[in-house]
Amino acid sequence: MDAPASHPGSVPQVLPTPATSGPGARGPAPAVTGLTLIGGGGHAVVVAEAAVLAGSTLRGFLDDNPAAALAATLLNQPQLHTPPPCLGTLERLELVLGSPMIIAIGQVSFRRTILSALRKLPAAGATPLATASAPGNAQASLNPLLCPVTIAHPAASISPTATLGRGIYIGPLAVIHSRARIGDHAIINTGAIIEHDCAVGENAHIAPGAILGGGVTVGEDTLIGMGSRILPHVTVGRHATVAAGAIVLDHVPDNATAIGVWGKR
Ligand SMILES: CC(C)(COP(=O)(O)OP(=O)(O)OC[C@H]1O[C@@H](n2cnc3c(N)ncnc32)[C@H](O)[C@@H]1OP(=O)(O)O)[C@@H](O)C(=O)NCCC(=O)NCCS
Repeated sequence: MDAPASHPGSVPQVLPTPATSGPGARGPAPAVTGLTLIGGGGHAVVVAEAAVLAGSTLRGFLDDNPAAALAATLLNQPQLHTPPPCLGTLERLELVLGSPMIIAIGQVSFRRTILSALRKLPAAGATPLATASAPGNAQASLNPLLCPVTIAHPAASISPTATLGRGIYIGPLAVIHSRARIGDHAIINTGAIIEHDCAVGENAHIAPGAILGGGVTVGEDTLIGMGSRILPHVTVGRHATVAAGAIVLDHVPDNATAIGVWGKR
C-alpha cells in the first residue's frame, strides 16, 4: 500500500443502517447519501453506477491509486455533479467509519483481508490495544461507526421473502428468489440467479451468469465462477472455487476447486 493520500471533506451525515438482515429483512438499502467505496477499480465502477442509478450519492473511494478506474469513469458521468474524490489509500480504512460504505473489490481473498482489517478498527473511545485483545475481536466487529450498506442495481430482481445481510452488491439482471438468504458482504454479480431457498455465505462471490439451483448452500469466501451451474441442494464449502463454466453435480469440500463436470459418477 502506498503512503496515505490527503482526504478532503468531512464525514457526511450518518444514516441509520437499514434493517436488511434478521427476521423480516427484505431488501437492499434505500438510496443513501454519501456512500464510500473501498476500492476504485473495475468492480468499484459497477457498484458506483448501480448506487447512483438507485438514487444514492457518492462521498468518495479509497484506493492506492488515486487515478483508479472509478475516478476516470465517473468524471465522465453527467449525472454526477460532483465527481467523488479518492479519500485516501487502503491503509486509511478508518476513513469509512461513520459513512455508509461498501467493499467494492471483486477478488474474494482481498475482500476478506479488507473485512478483517475493518473489524479490527477500534471503536470510538477504545484504544487499539484494548480492541486487539478483545476475545475474537467481537467488540471491534460491532464497531457502531461501521455502516456497511447493501447496494442493488435497479434492474436486479429480489424476492420480498429473501433475506439480505449488509454490505452486499447485487448487479443488474441478478435474480434472488424466494426465501434465499445472502450473507454480509457477498457479491451477487450481473445476471446471476440464486434460486429459492439458497444460502450464500459471508463474502462469497457469485460471478456473472452463474446459476444456483434451489436449496444450494455456498460457504463463506467462496467464488462461484462465471456461467457455472450448481445443481439443486448441493453444498459448496467454504473458501472453495467453482471454475467458470463448471457444472457441479455433487458437494464441493472446503478449499476445493471444482472444474468441468464435478461429481460425475
Ligand atoms: C478454475 C480457475 C480458478 C483456475 O485458475 P488457475 O488456478 O489460475 O489455473 P490455470 O489458469 O493455471 O489453469 C490450470 C488448468 O485448468 C484449465 N482451466 C482453467 N480454467 C478452467 C475452466 N474454467 N474450465 C476448464 N478448465 C479450466 C486450464 O486450461 C489449465 O489446464 P492445463 O493444466 O491442462 O493446461 C480459473 O480458471 C477460473 O475459472 N476462475 C473463475 C473466474 C471467474 O469466474 N471470475 C469471476 C470474475 S467476475
